[in-house]
Amino acid sequence: MLIEEIIEKKRDKKELTREEISFFIKGYVNNEIPDYQASALLMAIYLNGMNKKEIGILTDEMRVSGEVWDLSDIPGLKVDKHSTGGVGDKVSLVLGPMVCSCGAKLAKMSGRGLGHTGGTIDKLESIPGFKTTQTYEQFKKQVKDVGMVIIGQDKNIDPADKKLYALRDVTATVSSIPLIASSIMSKKLASGADCILLDVKYGSGAFMKTIEEAKNLATTMVDIGKELNKDVKAEITDMDQPLGYAVGNNLEVKEVIDTLKGNGPKDLYELCLYSGSIMLKQAKIFDDLDKAKEALIENINNGKAFEKFKEFVAAQGGDVSYIENPEKFDVCKNIVPVYSKEDGFVNRIDALAIGKASMRLGGGREKLDDIIDMAAGIVLNKKIGDKVAKGELLATLYTNKNEEIIEEVHEEVLTAFYIKDKLEIETDKPHILIE
Ligand code: URA
Repeated sequence: MLIEEIIEKKRDKKELTREEISFFIKGYVNNEIPDYQASALLMAIYLNGMNKKEIGILTDEMRVSGEVWDLSDIPGLKVDKHSTGGVGDKVSLVLGPMVCSCGAKLAKMSGRGLGHTGGTIDKLESIPGFKTTQTYEQFKKQVKDVGMVIIGQDKNIDPADKKLYALRDVTATVSSIPLIASSIMSKKLASGADCILLDVKYGSGAFMKTIEEAKNLATTMVDIGKELNKDVKAEITDMDQPLGYAVGNNLEVKEVIDTLKGNGPKDLYELCLYSGSIMLKQAKIFDDLDKAKEALIENINNGKAFEKFKEFVAAQGGDVSYIENPEKFDVCKNIVPVYSKEDGFVNRIDALAIGKASMRLGGGREKLDDIIDMAAGIVLNKKIGDKVAKGELLATLYTNKNEEIIEEVHEEVLTAFYIKDKLEIETDKPHILIE
């Protein structure tokens, strides 16, 4: 088989066979196919797409390109959850303990933040001592003993995605539905869970800017699940403003603690109840979404979800005294208020701008090897729908950066708030579930 013939076929909009896709993935991972030919094929896929069958095969070939972790000897269905990323998205850290306190087992690998989006692994590492790498054996043991584990993407899983993603990043081929869907799903499927809930975000702070794009990606990933006999469901949720109030690593962990104690922001808590009910149904712990939701609420109110979070943090080496006394977390030396310059109602908060602003304050990374300031970020004081008076606090900046950066970011955060005389938007957008 010749790689140039495979490129030619995709260039001419023809369907690729399993043998051809397998030849490409194996050859690229083994360095037998060079970057320039892989780039040409990626661009042909980007331009001409792939059908459901090809996407299923591509995902499966990527899945088996490295180690595949098997959790089948642990009793019960193992669940996993993935968000396509956003600003202030700390859902996994709230949702995990909520569903696990109800008996689900969460086995999850997560990513780091890049650009305006945060990453679950960075948030966890803001807890002193918390370790985000484990061997296969340790991962399995924690799923069995604690019922919840979150580690970084293991380097032996899905090497095809690692190489291909780096190549896509420099060849303008990231934003292709078949390539995004196979990238996300191959990693998820290789890490061993039986059921996966995807949260596909749309809006200014998300990868997918419109609801149509989000639906398309979600449907493609659910279809991959069908092709490969896995229970995959996808919810579509908006990222037209940051989720919750806190953006930035230890600031978000503090909000997670508040939420698990029943004092969290409404949008975050409601999304966790919605997602958690679906996951408990997927795990076959409840067959009714309302009953599942009741159990989740009960475990927030009786403290079991918070206890599960502490157990999980302790199991991964984190210092639980920080969870019990969040005032122990580092605080930045500069704490800068941003006040409104007008009266009105908050109609929109540009999540992308807030995410970038938090990154510039030190809370995120521009390049993969940048070092994050765990205490830096932004805490909003107003959300969409809120009334605001001139001079009222919109947000607070936390940073160790200098005056010049603070002044620029202050302006960026101020302009991220769209304040109008009237409320001209729908405040309650229904969540959509694709299954
Ligand atoms: N996240 C991934 O893991 N892969 C993509 O291609 C895009 C987002």
